[in-house]
Amino acid sequence: MPVNIRGRHFLKLIDYTPAEIRYLLDLSHNFKDLKRAGTPHRYLEGRNIVLLFEKTSTRTRCAFEVAGRDLGMGVTYLDPGSSQMGKKESIADTAKVLGRMYDGIEYRGFSQKIVEELAVNAGVPVWNGLTDEFHPTQMLADLLTIEEKKGALKGLKFTYFGDARNNMGNSLMIACAKMGLHFTACAPKELFPAQELVELAKQYAAESGGSVTLTEDITEGASGADILYTDIWVSMGEPDFVWEERIRLLKAYQVNAEKMALAKPDAIFMHCLPSFHDTNTTIGREIADKFGITEMEVSDDVFLGPQSVVFDEAENRMHTIKAVMYATLK
Ligand code: CP
Ligand code: NVA
Repeated sequence: MPVNIRGRHFLKLIDYTPAEIRYLLDLSHNFKDLKRAGTPHRYLEGRNIVLLFEKTSTRTRCAFEVAGRDLGMGVTYLDPGSSQMGKKESIADTAKVLGRMYDGIEYRGFSQKIVEELAVNAGVPVWNGLTDEFHPTQMLADLLTIEEKKGALKGLKFTYFGDARNNMGNSLMIACAKMGLHFTACAPKELFPAQELVELAKQYAAESGGSVTLTEDITEGASGADILYTDIWVSMGEPDFVWEERIRLLKAYQVNAEKMALAKPDAIFMHCLPSFHDTNTTIGREIADKFGITEMEVSDDVFLGPQSVVFDEAENRMHTIKAVMYATLK
């Protein structure tokens, strides 16, 4: 049966079948070719979208803005703190108002419940641009990048080092399980994903031919991996006081030359970004002053090295977000 997701929300990959994810990846490849060739693709001329951000962003905001304009749409950006939502107006009322004016709504913020509530009330497609629990548009960019670099998805060993129960850990486990990769979360037990989500991912993996492994053992995690992935140790919205404990828990799980050497010789390094791989940021410098570490989740040599594909991955945010907007609005 041909895939049709017109009118659907894009809130988490749990809601999408492998065939629907495949369709979005194929569309993304096509949009990337069109963009590279300079072929106009203003397929959604005259439509309008609104981007609602309750947390900061570089990639997600810019990807939605550029993709929206490339498709011929008008784009409104509401920055953290500049809308009435939450403070003076409920989520439901905000959704109803925006749904009267716009053809699609992007939301980045805190609880997954908020984006789900927006979706119930908006009457137009709602896209999740990151919540505390999930980051689904990032998943499409990551899968597209893996496919470009490795030629396929199924059967690859994908290892995620770091906070495996944050939005990235949760989402990558689901994305890999659905698409037939062998996913390993390599982290201290305290930072393993919730058992319920692990069980769900294992069901998906049984159907796709993939697998899900949780381990504290670094050698087991890194050995023979095709992809080593990490994310920042403290996510947006978490209080500053967690840094100390997170550094203690995750220091050994930094992706560095030692871990890359255990992986396959042609392994790639991935990161959703932003990343603390040096002290060229305010937070990077503060952490260096306070805790004496100058590189966090990834060493600078790996981040900048030949196996790193992080900037291809960042570019792919735009092509994949374009595919999601086109497929749900066309
Ligand atoms: N990867 C990602 O979502 O980046 P931003 O926070 O810059 O949007
Ligand atoms: N886990 C990170 C992802 C950023 C794209 C955060 O939520 O801050």
